[in-house]
Amino acid sequence: MYSNKPFLKIPPLSAAEYRRWAELLEHRLGIIVPQERKLFLQSKIWSRMREVGYTEYDDYWNFIQSGIEGNLEWSQLVDRLTVHETSFFRHKPSFDLVSDDLKAKIARSTKPLRYKIWSVSCATGEEAYSLAMMAQSICAADEKEAHFGVTGTDVSSPAVAIANQAIYSKDKLATIDEKYHAHITEVSDEMFVIKDHIKKRMAFGVFNLLDVNKPSNIKYDVVYCQNVLMYFDKAVREQILDGLVNYLNKDGLLVIGQTEINAWAHKRMARVNKSRTLAFRLK
Ligand SMILES: C[S@@+](CC[C@H](N)C(=O)[O-])C[C@H]1O[C@@H](n2cnc3c(N)ncnc32)[C@H](O)[C@@H]1O
Repeated sequence: MYSNKPFLKIPPLSAAEYRRWAELLEHRLGIIVPQERKLFLQSKIWSRMREVGYTEYDDYWNFIQSGIEGNLEWSQLVDRLTVHETSFFRHKPSFDLVSDDLKAKIARSTKPLRYKIWSVSCATGEEAYSLAMMAQSICAADEKEAHFGVTGTDVSSPAVAIANQAIYSKDKLATIDEKYHAHITEVSDEMFVIKDHIKKRMAFGVFNLLDVNKPSNIKYDVVYCQNVLMYFDKAVREQILDGLVNYLNKDGLLVIGQTEINAWAHKRMARVNKSRTLAFRLK
């Protein structure tokens, strides 16, 4: 029932309710919530239910299933259930790999290069802006007029909204090399914003990795997919990677987290040999 009454104690999810919610998450997001994470699931659902005034798991379940309003609520719940931990320039060796790739392609190209990067699960945007700041510095130093664009997507629409705003806490400056500070403006004692010359290179949107095998004509030179595969089971990880291959331009790079998959191979992809990275190139 709908209620504004305060509640202190979290009512336990019954075994059947836990199974039903865990199956919904696996079906809609591919995310596995094992029995050990039941309390996490319960507390996240409960705190969101409290915010929108529900006191019964059943009523909230029915609300989630109900048309447009239910869909909007689902995206809020997804935001609570997913982990958005991220930072600027999170894994330097992977960024160096992309930097080397862009420089090599500029050097080889005989006409102005258009280089497109996809930050696949960009959370609140730090990864996508890091790629853009890096690409901007490389393209600006080039005489051949290279251009770039970065697309950032995530399943969480609140996270994507933060990415679009491009406003971050100054604590986050610690991992941004000073040579990139020209791309940001301090807006207060606590916050900075990404400058417009970078923002205009970006496109952010909501995308569920489980849809990656649906037909698409969009192609990128880099598909950057880090710290998300670990939330899926092995078979789903492999299906996602197989799907991401179709988004690559010829000679395109797929850059994934170093420990996120074991023994994935694809007949169209060759492993890139660079230490402390896990990446593949379209043959
Ligand atoms: C830990 S963050 C990683 C952010 C960034 N890639 C990085 O490495 O810093 C994981 C992100 O994956 C997103 N995610 C989880 N399931 C997803 C799905 N099915 N499709 C797309 N993104 C998903 C979450 O919303 C979250 O923002």
